[in-house]
Amino acid sequence: MVDVAFTPSAFESADVAVVVDVLRATTTVAAALAAGHGRVLCCEDVETAERLREPGRVLAGERDCVPPAGFDLGNSPSGFRSPRGEEVVLTTTNGTPALLEAAASADEVLIGCLLNLRALLAHIDELAPGGDPDVILICAGTHGRPALEDVYLAGRIAGALGGARTDAARVAEAVAASYREPRAALAASADAAVLEEVGLGRDIDCCARESVLDVVPRTSALEQGVAIVEPAPTPGQPASAGSRSEERPLASARSEPGASRGT
Ligand code: MLT
Repeated sequence: MVDVAFTPSAFESADVAVVVDVLRATTTVAAALAAGHGRVLCCEDVETAERLREPGRVLAGERDCVPPAGFDLGNSPSGFRSPRGEEVVLTTTNGTPALLEAAASADEVLIGCLLNLRALLAHIDELAPGGDPDVILICAGTHGRPALEDVYLAGRIAGALGGARTDAARVAEAVAASYREPRAALAASADAAVLEEVGLGRDIDCCARESVLDVVPRTSALEQGVAIVEPAPTPGQPASAGSRSEERPLASARSEPGASRGT
C-alpha cells in the first residue's frame, strides 16, 4: 500500500518511510552526501548540533531560513557542491524533526527530494520487487501544516509506484498532476515565497532540478536523538556495507540521554 502523511503527525508506523522536505532539508541532505560527506547527523535543536561539533564536522542548518549563530553553513543545497568536512551536522525547523519522528517509528527510513527522484524510485522498487510496496511518504510540512512542495513530490512518487494506494496518496497524485513541471509547483508554495523574501530565491531553482543525483540517503541509526543518515547501499550490497556508524560513534553526544536504535 502506498500512503501519504501530509504532516509528520499523521504518521504512526511503517515498514518503509520516505521523508520529504523539498524546500529544503531533504534536498540538502542528498546534496551533502552526493558531494562526498560520509554521514549527515540530523538533530532537532541547535544545542544538540553544537554538542556534536568536532574536527571534521560541519555544522549546517537554519532557523527562520538563515544559519544559526556560529554555524558553518545554512540550509542551501548549493552550499554542498564539494566536501566541507567528513560529516555534516544538520538541524532545521521542520525537516530534521520530521526525519527523527520517522526514524523512531519506521524500520527503514529513506530521504527523498526531486534531485534524487529516479534513484529513490529504483530503490523502493528493489525493496518491493513484486511491485506492491508498503511505503508511507511523510511530508515534513511547515510548522505542522501541509506544504505544497512536499505534497507535490509525494504525489510524484506515489504516481510512479505501482500497487494499491490510500486516498491520501490519490490526493497527492492529483496535486502533482496539476503542475506541468516541478519548478511551478515549488514556486507556488508559501515556503518559496519566504525564501524569496529572505533573498534565497535561487534555492528554489536548485531544489526543483529533477533526478540529477543518484544518492539515496537512508537513516542507518537513531542514537541519542540524532538520526544518522548515510547513502543507501547500491544494488547487491548488503545493508551494512559501507556504513560508518559502527566505526564512528557520536562521541560528543555520548553523555546525552535518549533512544538508541542501530540497524
Ligand atoms: C525546514 O526544515 O524547515 C526547511 O528545510 C526550512 C528551510 O527552507 O530552510
